[in-house]
Amino acid sequence: LDIRVSGDGPLDALPAAVEVAAYRIVSEALANVVKHAGAARCDITLSVRDRRLEVAVRDDGGGIDPDVPAGVGMLSLRERAAELGGDCQVSCPPGAGTLIAARLPIQEADSA
Ligand SMILES: Nc1ncnc2c1ncn2[C@@H]1O[C@H](COP(=O)(O)OP(=O)(O)O)[C@@H](O)[C@H]1O
Ligand SMILES: [Mg+2]
Repeated sequence: LDIRVSGDGPLDALPAAVEVAAYRIVSEALANVVKHAGAARCDITLSVRDRRLEVAVRDDGGGIDPDVPAGVGMLSLRERAAELGGDCQVSCPPGAGTLIAARLPIQEADSA
């Protein structure tokens, strides 16, 4: 599996809660790519824009079978984003693997 990580924007001054959520989301998504996707390549991107961190994990594997129910791992992606007031979308374009895209609002430390 060829894994590429890229970043964009000021990633060095994120609130700890946003860093932890991003780390856990990427960890689970990447574990799923390794376990389930049969992918050759995985791109992880982290972008800060408009006071939020956008996290994307994209693979070129087989996609998620629509009949497979979400397990604890997939549910945790949404929960971690929702805890911060954000969201996490999962999409499987036909023939194009899986994309996990989370948006995590960046709040000031005293309101996070
Ligand atoms: N990147 C992926 N590519 C293909 N299938 C996936 C991917 N991520 C998740 N899945 C499918 O979704 C199911 C649920 O994932 P998850 O909730 O993380 O549970 P678990 O990893 O414990 O099976 C997996 O069992 C697998 O069938
Ligand atoms: Mg999993």
